[in-house]
Amino acid sequence: RKPRIAVVGSLNMDLVISMPRMPRMGESMQGDDIHYISGGKGANQAVGCAKLGANVDMIGAVGNDGFGAQILERMNGFGVGTAAIAVLENVPTGTATILHTEGDNCIVVVPGANGKCTPEQIQAHASMIAGADALIVQLEIPLPAVEAALRIAREAGIPTIINPAPAAALTDEQLGLGDYFTPNETEFEFYCGASASTEEELFGQMHAWKKRFPQQTLIVTRGKHGISCLAGDEIVTVPAPLVSVVDTTGAGDSFNAALCFGLASGWELERTLPLAVKAASHSVTVFGAQDGMPALSDLE
Ligand code: RIB
Ligand code: NA
Repeated sequence: RKPRIAVVGSLNMDLVISMPRMPRMGESMQGDDIHYISGGKGANQAVGCAKLGANVDMIGAVGNDGFGAQILERMNGFGVGTAAIAVLENVPTGTATILHTEGDNCIVVVPGANGKCTPEQIQAHASMIAGADALIVQLEIPLPAVEAALRIAREAGIPTIINPAPAAALTDEQLGLGDYFTPNETEFEFYCGASASTEEELFGQMHAWKKRFPQQTLIVTRGKHGISCLAGDEIVTVPAPLVSVVDTTGAGDSFNAALCFGLASGWELERTLPLAVKAASHSVTVFGAQDGMPALSDLE
């Protein structure tokens, strides 16, 4: 049967403005183009899991507006279960305004409805989480809601992934609710409170992290350098294949989705990690956060 995945997180409309270069402070300049693209880390990961072939349910919130309706329609189109996505009055659907230049971007996220997710809403869908083979969360919704989801999964014995993006202050108790922890390098520095910019520093901090959270598998995503994983006592690095980058938006989401898919499928990390790195590399070759996310057949 298909692996079942619960995603608890954000849905955004990404307003992607392509421009020749970033504006300077106080400058008004012309952009080349604007695209309205469904995004949000939670939604991206849900779509990523569904494209790989999982049975996905998402818990989250949109506003009762045009963007919200478009996002839900698209999620339904990918076969993601949207019954637990609340449609809220008097609050806009979340947006991410992305200034996109060649190979780079700056993002302003306005949470809107995402910011209204509550532990009560999550509790109301507890059986959805408890019935899944894996739960994945990110940090674009309020932390009490994230924590509620993780606790339900923990109690049900469901493996959990915390993708701590964007970095937000979690307590050690909250951090400990993740069986897998998947920061990028910048987020990892935030959580360690120390620099991890050289490989030596990064690996040192990873071992230090493992002492703090011995039960957890730590995976640091490193952009074009791939990922480094500390599961037992050894760090394994999976390099990323060289690809021509069109748009890096959602690369981390693509990795996390594939990691979650492998986990929910009961695969070993030896099989899952290279596949997840490939999925992320695939995603950056296509414009938009979700469109480049691969099917399993694209990767094998
Ligand atoms: O991870 C990429 C996502 O982050 C974008 O789709 C945007 O919505 C931002 O939240
Ligand atoms: Na992409």
